[in-house]
Amino acid sequence: MQSSRRHWIRQSSLALAGLGFASELLAKEIKPFSPVTKQILLNSNENAYGPSPMARKAMMEAYLSSNRYPDDVISPLKKKIAAHWNVGAENILLGAGSSEIIGLATHHVSANKGHVLVGEPAYKVWNGQAEAFGLSFNRIALTDKKVHDLNKMLGSVTGETRMVYICNPNNPTGTVNDVNELRSFAEEASKKTMVFIDEAYTEYAQLPSLADMAVKNKNIIVAKTFSKIYGLAGARIGYAIAHTDMINTLGSYQPWSDSAVSVVSVAAASASLDDKTFTEQCRLNAAKARDICYNTFNQLKLEYIPSQTNFILFHIDSIQKDLIKEMAAQNIYVQYRPHFGGKWCRVSMGTVEEMQQFCEALKTIA
Ligand SMILES: Cc1ncc(COP(=O)(O)O)c(C=O)c1O
Repeated sequence: MQSSRRHWIRQSSLALAGLGFASELLAKEIKPFSPVTKQILLNSNENAYGPSPMARKAMMEAYLSSNRYPDDVISPLKKKIAAHWNVGAENILLGAGSSEIIGLATHHVSANKGHVLVGEPAYKVWNGQAEAFGLSFNRIALTDKKVHDLNKMLGSVTGETRMVYICNPNNPTGTVNDVNELRSFAEEASKKTMVFIDEAYTEYAQLPSLADMAVKNKNIIVAKTFSKIYGLAGARIGYAIAHTDMINTLGSYQPWSDSAVSVVSVAAASASLDDKTFTEQCRLNAAKARDICYNTFNQLKLEYIPSQTNFILFHIDSIQKDLIKEMAAQNIYVQYRPHFGGKWCRVSMGTVEEMQQFCEALKTIA
């Protein structure tokens, strides 16, 4: 553990250096990349600042090669991703967003009908597709701290469980399960069923990945995406990290392995991985945006779940008006979420200025 004094001093000086770096980054303004709309889109957990300047340039250059299949650029990207996570390129499968990866995994486990164990609430958009594959769901309520109840989930694995899906940080709560506890859980649960770890928001929370476990264990799949902190939701690119056998199996459900990405999305992803200043600025701006929201929620006495991501869930039972409609009337788009027996709103972090506008609107509506 990190207990030695020397280690502590090193960590502290790194943290201080980090603080200097952080304020330097925050001082440098990053311009949002949303020239096409006047709407404030706070409903899909996108990154209003993306794509990164380096990704934009790479995409503009890459589109000229759109007459060619992306074969030549796929392998360098997989190598770059593999180096980023310290795994092999053979442990990576590219998909049209992590949604495609989730779809491939559910397709795979649905060969035998049964259920998927999931948290309630957790990320659900893929659930209809899994049902179309013949899977059902066993939903396990989050704990009082609004994190996955890993003990209960482990105890709920039966012979009918085809997969456990854990989204950490969780969407829509923005909360985080302790990664060591999650690792122990994955180790145990994977003895009985497939374990799918969705790491869409780990960069915001600076969480370590379970990639190292996944490449060794045939029953663990990690999913990653370029849609969130990298700001490439529209480019549709994500990937799986898994054991080579599992990568081959998942790839066999695609027309050909890695077939769903384009020269443009590959170029964008590759440049995004290099643009570390941009991702760090986005992480810091999301934290600043969260603080702006927390201040307003506190002023208005609205309960909220402290988040480690680029979205916050807050309680709206006390608001008389239809918040979602009233916001939309002001061109601000947020999501209604019925959870924990009440009414909640999930608001994604836009730019700092957008969040100030959201807060002003919230004050007038509430
Ligand atoms: C937890 C989680 N996983 C996966 C996705 C899908 O992302 P994409 O398919 O764009 O990679 C999302 C998108 O909101 C998400 O919140």
